[in-house]
Amino acid sequence: MPIVLRMVAEIAMTVDLPIIGVGGVSSAEDVIKYVMAGASLVGVCTHGHMKGLGAYTSLIENISKVLDANGWSSLDEVRGLTLKRIAERAANGKTAVVEPQVPLVNHGDCILCKKCEQVCVYDAIVIEDKVQISADRCYGCGLCVSICPTDAMSQSYY
Ligand SMILES: Cc1cc2nc3c(=O)[nH]c(=O)nc-3n(C[C@H](O)[C@H](O)[C@H](O)COP(=O)(O)O)c2cc1C
Ligand code: SF4
Ligand code: SF4
Repeated sequence: MPIVLRMVAEIAMTVDLPIIGVGGVSSAEDVIKYVMAGASLVGVCTHGHMKGLGAYTSLIENISKVLDANGWSSLDEVRGLTLKRIAERAANGKTAVVEPQVPLVNHGDCILCKKCEQVCVYDAIVIEDKVQISADRCYGCGLCVSICPTDAMSQSYY
């Protein structure tokens, strides 16, 4: 999903056409991320296959809850916010994050599930008694942060 999100944002910055964001959506937050990146519509498939048909209904119902919780009134209000943020950064001379942002771990929230260790294709994470990330190996891809079930990992993009 992070890869397709980037593609959606790049397409939205390049052409003025409706874009359907598809791939990896399993929550209302994911839908909102695609819309923020410029998607007009969002597609979901596997989530309902894995969790049952009712998962589609809950996901749709949760969209307005997540919007409300963040003070947004509609998807139209968040559409393209990421593109605006990128434009703001560009105006301040920050066009891209060029150094890997090694994730920070809040060990108090970590349940040692080891999912981050399993998904890191760069072998940057080793878990013994706690999560340890090698700054030399980490590419800052953010995959571990996106799959952590307790949001114990974070990255800062100033
Ligand atoms: C079991 C299954 C069957 C699918 N069948 C089709 C299909 O017939 N036509 C199509 O265009 N895409 C099909 N897809 C692709 C989905 O529409 C979607 O593009 C893809 O699964 C990525 O989104 P997701 O991460 O929400 O699953 C299928 C996907 C799955 C998992
Ligand atoms: S995925 Fe999150 S909860 Fe699981 S071990 Fe890694 S930091 Fe801890
Ligand atoms: S950000 Fe990417 S490269 Fe760095 S530890 Fe996480 S999964 Fe590995």
